Amino acid sequence: MTEALLAWYDRHARAMPWRTGPAERAAGLRPDPYRVWLSEVMLQQTTVAAVRKYHERFTALWPTVADLASADDADVMAEWAGLGYYARARNLLKCARAVVADHGGRFPDTHDALIALPGIGPYTAAAVAAIAFDRPETVVDGNVERVMSRLFDVETPLPAAKPELTAHAARLTSHARPGDHAQAVMDLGATICTPKSPACGICPLRAPCLARQRGTEAQRPVKAAK
Ligand code: ADE
Repeated sequence: MTEALLAWYDRHARAMPWRTGPAERAAGLRPDPYRVWLSEVMLQQTTVAAVRKYHERFTALWPTVADLASADDADVMAEWAGLGYYARARNLLKCARAVVADHGGRFPDTHDALIALPGIGPYTAAAVAAIAFDRPETVVDGNVERVMSRLFDVETPLPAAKPELTAHAARLTSHARPGDHAQAVMDLGATICTPKSPACGICPLRAPCLARQRGTEAQRPVKAAK
C-alpha cells in the first residue's frame, strides 16, 4: 500500500511553497525545516489555499529563522493579520527565538527536541520531524483519520476511534520515505479521499480499501452523535 501511495505522490504531489519539487525529491533533498515549521503552524485551523500567500510573504520578509527571531513583534503580528488565532503568531516568535538562543539557529531534528520548543505540540513535532528530517513519525490530522477510517473500514465513531486510526497510520508509515509518505496521505485525503464524493475510481489505494470493497465509504469516518 505504501509503495502505491508513494508512486501516486511522485506523480501528483501538490506544489506548495514549503515543499521541494519532484527533481529535488528524486535527488533525496529535504525541504528547509524553517519553511516546513512555518507552514505547519500556519496550517493549524487554516486552509492550504489561504496559507500559501502568507507563507510566501513571511519567507520573503524573513528568509531564515534567525531573521524571524530578530523581527519586531509588531511587524510579525501585522503580517499575521487575517490568519487569526494570534496566540499562534506570538508562539511563532517565541519558538524562532528559542531556536536561535538554544539551538544556534538550526531546528533540532528529533520529535523530542522539537516538542520541547514553545508552541510546538505533538502534531507539529511529528510533521516537522517527518517532512523536514525524514524521521519515521506518524502524522495524523483530520485528512489522515478519514483515509484510515475508509482504508480499514473502521466502525468505531470519532473521537473514540482516534487511537485505532493512529495505530493504522503508524503501521502504514513508510520507513524508506517517511516525509513523502506523511504528505502523500494528507494530499490523498485533501484531493481524492474527500469527505463528500471521494474519487475512488482514481484512488491509488482503491484495491486494498475495505470501505470501497464494502461500499461503506460514504459512512466513514463514523462520528459520535452530538
Ligand atoms: N496540512 C498540514 N500540513 C500539510 C502538508 N505538509 N501538506 C499538505 N497538507 C497539510
